[in-house]
Amino acid sequence: MERVRLGVVGIGNIASLNVAGYLAHDRCDVVALCDPRESAAKAKAEEWGVERVYTELDDLLAADDIDAVEILTPTYLHREHVLAAVAAGKHVSCQKPMANSVDEAEEMLAAARAAGVVFRVSECDVHYPPLLKARQLIADGAIGTPTMLRMKTVVGRTDSSFQMGMDPHGYIWRFNDRSPAGHLFDDMVHKYAVAQWLFDEEVRSVQAVVRQGELFFEAPTAAFWEYGRDDLLGMMEVTYAPGMYIRSDYYGADEFFEIQGTEGFIWVTRCTGKMLDMPAVVLYGADGTTTSFANVDADWASGFRGASAHFVDSLIAGTQPDMTGEQAIDVLRLCFAVYEASNTRRAVDPATITSSVSPPWWPPFSST
Ligand SMILES: NC(=O)c1ccc[n+]([C@@H]2O[C@H](COP(=O)([O-])OP(=O)(O)OC[C@H]3O[C@@H](n4cnc5c(N)ncnc54)[C@H](O)[C@@H]3O)[C@@H](O)[C@H]2O)c1
Repeated sequence: MERVRLGVVGIGNIASLNVAGYLAHDRCDVVALCDPRESAAKAKAEEWGVERVYTELDDLLAADDIDAVEILTPTYLHREHVLAAVAAGKHVSCQKPMANSVDEAEEMLAAARAAGVVFRVSECDVHYPPLLKARQLIADGAIGTPTMLRMKTVVGRTDSSFQMGMDPHGYIWRFNDRSPAGHLFDDMVHKYAVAQWLFDEEVRSVQAVVRQGELFFEAPTAAFWEYGRDDLLGMMEVTYAPGMYIRSDYYGADEFFEIQGTEGFIWVTRCTGKMLDMPAVVLYGADGTTTSFANVDADWASGFRGASAHFVDSLIAGTQPDMTGEQAIDVLRLCFAVYEASNTRRAVDPATITSSVSPPWWPPFSST
């Protein structure tokens, strides 16, 4: 493939950040958009210089001049839309979370394999430059053997133009029975993806306490897990601080990561927001030297641009793009294992999760 001719399916709240990387790529042509909200789609088409707008997915998928699609629809529609796209012979990039349940995700991956098309889940965090830097430092042995991962997510309030411009329709499906659970499903999948990707290690056991918070937040939450090898553990905290202003160009949230090894520390001091006036990546090495990587691009949007460019580059190179369907299914298993561990107050092996798990206060949910 010399160039990638892309169709974008869904032009809601997060579409602009994702589409930017496709529009900027010199070997990608965004040829069509699809969204039932025709006037909103036409406005985006004009803004992005895209010639065609469809309101029916089947019409976009019938177009022979589209090689691949980026699925940016609500998560509860991913299964239906991915199955339709792969049946039409399109390569697929699907936003996280891959699906509302493990069994749906397995069905999607099997269908993509049977159709012989490329399938990946677009996960911006594994393309976020500070986290890429941290992963490279770990792989280079900068902290010796990793022994502990700590991840913190805090949600507060902000007044960024991005947050103020959110269309409220994008929240409705996240807050009701079209989702299996709340914030730990919708957002924490990013962190579970990071937890697996940083070390290429499977998680074999999870323990957690998940509390019901306001809106769809499940906070405070504390979870920890055991990796395949005994000398590596991971832990995660999620807090909601509605009275706290968060400096951010995007959502009112931020994340911090600490990776301890036998010979040092790595800190990634931001992700979505920019709360801390610190270099984005800091290394404390074996000899006591602190190295600050202040020149790493720490713009949260860069993870989206990187994820989109990576999909195009991989299609052109004929290689499998990140995240693979298998990795995305492991992410879902870890996500639901956290709910299961909290619900049962027992350690849970993510491999035992075959469908979805909701917290007890969530409206009754059944996957398709
Ligand atoms: N990577 C990230 O950090 C990130 C952030 C936010 C959202 N997301 C993911 O992106 C996806 C979309 O989220 P959002 O916040 O943009 O949601 P949204 O509700 O704002 O946008 C979804 C869009 O899909 C459209 N749509 C609905 N049915 C459709 C159909 N049949 N065909 C075509 N379009 C259809 C809607 O009209 C809407 O414009 C979700 O899976 C979400 O989890 C990822």
